Amino acid sequence: MQLIDGKKLAQEIKIEIADEVKKMVMSGKRTPHLVAVLVGDDGASRTYVNSKVKSCEEVGFKSTFIRLERDITENELLAQINTLNNDDAVDGFIIQLPLPKHIDEEKILLAIAPEKDVDGFHPTNVGRMTLNLPGYISATPKGILEMLNRYNIETEGKHCVVIGRSNIVGLPMSLLMQRRSKPGNCTVTICHSKTNDLSKYTLQADIIIAALGKPKFLTADMVKKGAVVIDVGITRVDDPSKKSGFKLLGDVDFEHVSKKCSYISPVPGGVGLMTVVSLLQNTLSAAKEEFYAKSMSFDVDNL
Ligand code: GUN
Repeated sequence: MQLIDGKKLAQEIKIEIADEVKKMVMSGKRTPHLVAVLVGDDGASRTYVNSKVKSCEEVGFKSTFIRLERDITENELLAQINTLNNDDAVDGFIIQLPLPKHIDEEKILLAIAPEKDVDGFHPTNVGRMTLNLPGYISATPKGILEMLNRYNIETEGKHCVVIGRSNIVGLPMSLLMQRRSKPGNCTVTICHSKTNDLSKYTLQADIIIAALGKPKFLTADMVKKGAVVIDVGITRVDDPSKKSGFKLLGDVDFEHVSKKCSYISPVPGGVGLMTVVSLLQNTLSAAKEEFYAKSMSFDVDNL
């Protein structure tokens, strides 16, 4: 079994990004700028946003952290998005999810200008990804592709089983794995909470991507010998022995599954770190106008 070391990969990619930023700045361009918006003060979301902001500093990006009160209205948040959409000094921004219940997440994601949507959540970017057109790919699936690519894991002709169908991970992951691309060209099965006899599918899988958010859900008896297992789960579980008071658990029973598979990504130290570097890569693409020219942005009110 080979461990897919997300920490090492993330570090390598950060060095590559930092080199590119240096070159950009030396050629007279300004540093890429990411804005992260957090509504409320959920502990886990705060940790993720802090990690995104800290990673920006590590690669030489400018970052701005905007924290808004939990009881902000939907219109106030939409106004904040409008400001960021029209701020030429901002290359990309993210609204950390989940949002408080009184805010319509769909409406919020739709309001983000696709050219600044470095999370890749806007329907325009999801559509581009679906059609294999250039655009922002959401961070976690993008990070998993990078893992498969950098570990030279063959995907062509393989059977990939994705467990979970969230808009952020399961759904895009299933589409990306079947694309006419490398990594890609898999036969994909997507399993979810209504799938009967899940093991029937996972036992046939060459690659399993577990993204359902249930700690230690995937057990050794559900995995074929030699399979590649990618663990996207990251659930906080109380652990008084830790200084933080909690530990992070993946969706995979690592101790037993790791003995059976060819490659496995651990939690922590796996996909989570890749998610953050993918966001940095998308922000770099935004700053370089790789997918959308800045002149394309327009203000609907002024048409
Ligand atoms: N919540 C969980 N994952 C993500 C992510 O990748 N981006 C945002 N904005 N919110 C999240």
